[in-house]
Amino acid sequence: MNWMEKELSAMEDASLMRTLCLSSSILGCPGYTVRGERRLLNLSSNDYLGLSQHPAIIEVMREELLIEGSGAGASRHVTGNRASYGRLEEALSGWQNCEAALVFANGYMANSGVIGALVGRGDVVFSDQLNHASIVDGTILSRAELARYRHNDMEHLRTLMNKYRDKRRKLIVTDAVFSMDGDQAPLRELAHLKCEYGAMLMVDEAHSGGIYGDLGEGLCHELGVDVDIHMGTFSKSFGVYGAYVCGSRTLIRWLVNKARPLIYSTALPPSLIAGISKALELVQTEHWRRVRLREAVTLFRSSLSAAGFDVSAGDSPIVPIIIGDNDTTLRFSGALEEEGIAAVAIRPPTVPEGTARIRFSLSAVHTDKELIDAAARIRTVGLQLGVLSL
Ligand SMILES: Cc1ncc(COP(=O)(O)O)c(C=O)c1O
Repeated sequence: MNWMEKELSAMEDASLMRTLCLSSSILGCPGYTVRGERRLLNLSSNDYLGLSQHPAIIEVMREELLIEGSGAGASRHVTGNRASYGRLEEALSGWQNCEAALVFANGYMANSGVIGALVGRGDVVFSDQLNHASIVDGTILSRAELARYRHNDMEHLRTLMNKYRDKRRKLIVTDAVFSMDGDQAPLRELAHLKCEYGAMLMVDEAHSGGIYGDLGEGLCHELGVDVDIHMGTFSKSFGVYGAYVCGSRTLIRWLVNKARPLIYSTALPPSLIAGISKALELVQTEHWRRVRLREAVTLFRSSLSAAGFDVSAGDSPIVPIIIGDNDTTLRFSGALEEEGIAAVAIRPPTVPEGTARIRFSLSAVHTDKELIDAAARIRTVGLQLGVLSL
């Protein structure tokens, strides 16, 4: 096992070591986190709508826990299925205006399970270079060929689609909003290419579900783009845990029979299904959270730009500042913590080599004052570390 120590010290030298830091939440205060003895403004959470501490969600989960116990006890194909799963899936189909829906344990398992169920040897997956790791891993597991196209580059995608024209099944997969950059996929162009080449189109709405669309349906809905496989998570805007896949009745019947993470893994605990169902109701009815998030995003992005940072255009709550060098990025994150801000350093392999960054993510619960103060403190750190100049 000596090789491990060697590899770990090489990672340490390259400022690529990861350690598990302790964070705790403050009940009723979702915009903050506690590290050590300190309360920090949390600019590194995906709790975009601030639902993770919602009393109504907590209450239904508590009630269901007392009725159903702590675990489902088996997979849905055995004895883990409950009526509440079916009710949630019906509510999801209504929300997404599609024929059927299926709940998965989490986004990672949804992506890997769906891709593995749709394609195999002799098939091809066209995947954006910046897609989430679960999409890449799902493709590798499926044994289909992975054709990665340059980020959002439709000409490159077309070239690859021509190259793999004769493959049996073709699947295009993309994040709707990219998790580390916050930019959007060209969904209309992708839908057009999918029709032209007779491919399937799968969109991951992990970072856009809850945020776009009048009822939080996501970016596809906001842009009026029809996709074959619509996937999203309950772990971000919904403030809970789990994932969904929406599409045709045939797709869902296929997944129930073929998606291995669904078949060979225990069903989510009933208390979680109750929490997700309540969160789905709130995502649709508490529209003010989307409005507030949009205001917060506009204010924070313009404050960082005014402070001198290069902030890419867009309206996503994911706001990266690209620093490049791993060590400086780590020091930047450490200095922000000293300033009372939790904003973690994102380094390779999560992002491409030379593009280490601080990835800020906002929530509807952040106030204008908190965000303006934060931008001022981020500027101070930027000046101290020479990332910004006067
Ligand atoms: C784009 C994207 N897809 C999927 C996932 C995985 O979701 P989960 O955390 O529910 O496993 C993530 C989570 O980080 C993500 O960013």
